[in-house]
Amino acid sequence: MTDSSVSNRAAVLQLVQLSSRLDPWAVRAAATLRLPDLVADGADTTSELAARSGTDPDALGRLMRHLRILGLFRTTAAGRWELAELGELLRDDHPMRIRRTLDQADHYVQKVDRSAHGLLEAVRTGGAVWERLHGLSFWDDMSADPRFGRGFDAQMARHSALYSPAITRGYDWSTVEHVVDVGGGTGRTLVTILGTHPHLRATLVDLPGPVAGAATVLEEADVAGRCVVVAQSFFDPLPPGGDVYLLANTVHDWSDEDSARILRRCAQAAGPGGRVLLADRVVTDEADEAAQAFVSGVDLLMLMLNSGRERSEEEFRELGATAGLRHTATHALADYPLMSLVEYVVEG
Ligand SMILES: C[S@@+](CC[C@H](N)C(=O)[O-])C[C@H]1O[C@@H](n2cnc3c(N)ncnc32)[C@H](O)[C@@H]1O
Repeated sequence: MTDSSVSNRAAVLQLVQLSSRLDPWAVRAAATLRLPDLVADGADTTSELAARSGTDPDALGRLMRHLRILGLFRTTAAGRWELAELGELLRDDHPMRIRRTLDQADHYVQKVDRSAHGLLEAVRTGGAVWERLHGLSFWDDMSADPRFGRGFDAQMARHSALYSPAITRGYDWSTVEHVVDVGGGTGRTLVTILGTHPHLRATLVDLPGPVAGAATVLEEADVAGRCVVVAQSFFDPLPPGGDVYLLANTVHDWSDEDSARILRRCAQAAGPGGRVLLADRVVTDEADEAAQAFVSGVDLLMLMLNSGRERSEEEFRELGATAGLRHTATHALADYPLMSLVEYVVEG
């Protein structure tokens, strides 16, 4: 074999793997059947794994062979299954909770996964494809289908567990008395901030579905006495009186036009000199390749779901300016560098 045919073969194999029809589904099957947990729990033969996962032993053996090649499992000298490093990441109790983002038993996960083929149309049309695929826009679908909404809220709670400690540590909350969390979901992010900063009062704003679950979340964290919950759209006038209007992981869900409408509502409620704080991903060429790939992947997902987008610092600056906000700072969160705080002040 010549050098060029060797590198050509490597490139072909790389492309075959990148465009695999099956690999993403093999990983999802492992996650849904909890194969990593079962192997860790001692089911280290194919027959035992099949018995405990309720699967066909021959088909499961073939799936396990493929998952071994993908790097999730290894076989010992005695021919028993053991977890490889990638498989460890799919344990249910892994702190990143990746397994649950792939679990096909979760209605939200399943619906989003099965919509991913819509990317082609999203690129052709330049906008969301959810409505064409499912008959309603992403957010209307969530209100109409409580199982979908609950699944989404649970995924958001898991995301929030990853970034809310970083938001809590990454901003000088001693300068704030009253924070309004706009699109604050079930209150998970707020609970972390309030729990660490006992001087803070808060208002949580979101649609009726997510805020219905907020009372329990706030009470369990013993912060309900410091938080008012408001069920409304953030496209309507927002409660006034906050020192900071926080939008965590929310503006990226929306087009520039809709994002500007939301930011204008924040600016009106905050008043001149008031602050608006975004926790979002910031597109930059300076991040490492894996981080850039993650952010560009989320960007495409946002395009498909809801015509949303990830933005560069310059795009955040311009977006703020259209809503009467002056951009004052952007900094990556030290404990969660995939996300940054984008800070604005309302122009006087
Ligand atoms: C990606 S989630 C982020 C949730 C929360 N900020 C967090 O950190 O966990 C976006 C939130 O925006 C809310 N949302 C969507 N449309 C809304 C609207 N028109 N008015 C208020 N909230 C809305 C959703 O219900 C959801 O809770």
